[in-house]
Amino acid sequence: MERLQKVIAESGYTSRRKAEELIVQGKVKVNGKIVTELGTKVSDKDEIEIENKILSKEAKEYYLLNKPRGMITSTDDDKNRRVVTELIPTQARIYPVGRLDYDTTGVLLLTNDGEFANIMMHPKSRVDKVYLAKLEGIIKGEQINKLKKGIEIDHVKVIPSRVKLKKINSESNTCMVEIVIHEGKNHQVKRMFEAVGFHVEKLKRERMGIFTTEGLKSGEYRKLTPKEVAIVYSLKK
Ligand code: URA
Repeated sequence: MERLQKVIAESGYTSRRKAEELIVQGKVKVNGKIVTELGTKVSDKDEIEIENKILSKEAKEYYLLNKPRGMITSTDDDKNRRVVTELIPTQARIYPVGRLDYDTTGVLLLTNDGEFANIMMHPKSRVDKVYLAKLEGIIKGEQINKLKKGIEIDHVKVIPSRVKLKKINSESNTCMVEIVIHEGKNHQVKRMFEAVGFHVEKLKRERMGIFTTEGLKSGEYRKLTPKEVAIVYSLKK
């Protein structure tokens, strides 16, 4: 069961705020009855009608994209930059599950299934987000330990479940570090490394839960299998 305004917004009909206005104004019916209560919960079986039009129920679609650099993780951009959804030809109103920065590459899921997105993103689901970061400079054990003890981001202490130095390149004075986190705070990985004095030159999400970019070149995508979708649903708490 989901909140009525959320279901309306996720159908792509309008924004959540506008959906709330329509509800309060008495323009929304659930199973033929006007509903003005904002907290009303509805399920897939309920028929929602807005201003006398039945809200269409889009079939659920799920994609895994190997995000290239230089694209915004969004469905549109006011500065006219390229957005990830233009790589996936579908009429469904899919949106990215979480965010990767403009210059970050790797695993990105897209769907029109809000519940699936919530499960993947909720820290309770403990979905591993595995990143490979190229750092300017060479990280030392002491700084890795500081990361492992936890860094405060947005007033919350975030503790990575793994930090591992993978490769040192003395010539270019850079190193590759793998870091595994469970939250999805804005620029989290970059901010964590910055907190111990390192600039992230390149960042790739190598894995998110069971999903990797295996078999996908940069910019390529595939549909998730029903089994993969079921595995994600099995994480629901
Ligand atoms: N952390 C970041 O700093 N950037 C990303 O794109 C993802 C995680």
